[in-house]
Amino acid sequence: MGSVTTSKHANGLEYVDINTPLCKARVFMQGAQIDYFEPVGQKPLLWVSSADDYQPGNGIRGGIPVCWPWFGMSDNPDFPQHGFARTRIWSLESVKMRNQIVDLKFTLKISEEDKQYWPHDTSVELLFTLSDTLSVSLVNTNNCDYEVSLTQALHTYFPINDIHQLTASGFSGAKYIEFAKGPFPQEGDSVDFTRETDRVYTNLGECQELHTPDGIIEVRRENSQSAVLWNPWIEKSQRLSRFNSDDYLTMVCLEAANVLEDKVTLAPNESHTLTTHIRWKA
Ligand code: BG6
Repeated sequence: MGSVTTSKHANGLEYVDINTPLCKARVFMQGAQIDYFEPVGQKPLLWVSSADDYQPGNGIRGGIPVCWPWFGMSDNPDFPQHGFARTRIWSLESVKMRNQIVDLKFTLKISEEDKQYWPHDTSVELLFTLSDTLSVSLVNTNNCDYEVSLTQALHTYFPINDIHQLTASGFSGAKYIEFAKGPFPQEGDSVDFTRETDRVYTNLGECQELHTPDGIIEVRRENSQSAVLWNPWIEKSQRLSRFNSDDYLTMVCLEAANVLEDKVTLAPNESHTLTTHIRWKA
């Protein structure tokens, strides 16, 4: 059947270990951040920097950090980049096993201190469905009697073996903003990597693929018309925290998002679910 157990990392962070006939995975309570997912008989689908030492208070440099309730910089420059959810301790509300599939549900209670960042009465959940595919859903519900808007991303780090041999496809018809310029129309369907890439795509179709020497990773999104494609390349790698200077060679981020004109606006009592599905296609 499989097992779901909780343990503590040497540096103090608590995590959930999932071990089933379909996959092995690990999810930390801090940030409800998954840092490991390996479908049985296949290679791991998530990348983590070997420079990360899993210190409490730091988001892990890899896996899937949750950017919430804003992506990138807030309008207030003193607020943390990518929101605060990725460094807060989430609660594991439920664990369900059906056949060989595991469902986990995490919730984040907004602390009094964090109300300076997010004074709205909303609820936020992160759901994992772990089989030979990884599905992650970020669910927001507005409990206020007024409209609330937010931006967000599931900031997935993928292992890609060699950035020079990576082709990302599925981008035709989209447009992107990069380094505060644009929007530019996407030319062709695919993107190759020869320099720093930091594109915020909108009007994007629901499925992209990462063609790597190890196989094709398929990335699907639901309730999302936007995504971020990021590789820091040589110079920015020197400046990033918990990141080796040559890490840019073996990772890429393709982030399921709701940003720019695709931001989420919730009427009172309304909910929204951003989902990403990740698997080895071949
Ligand atoms: C990406 C952004 O999503 O996240 C990049 O597009 C940013 O500009 C990167 O550098 C990493 O951010 P952080 O806060 O985790 O270092």
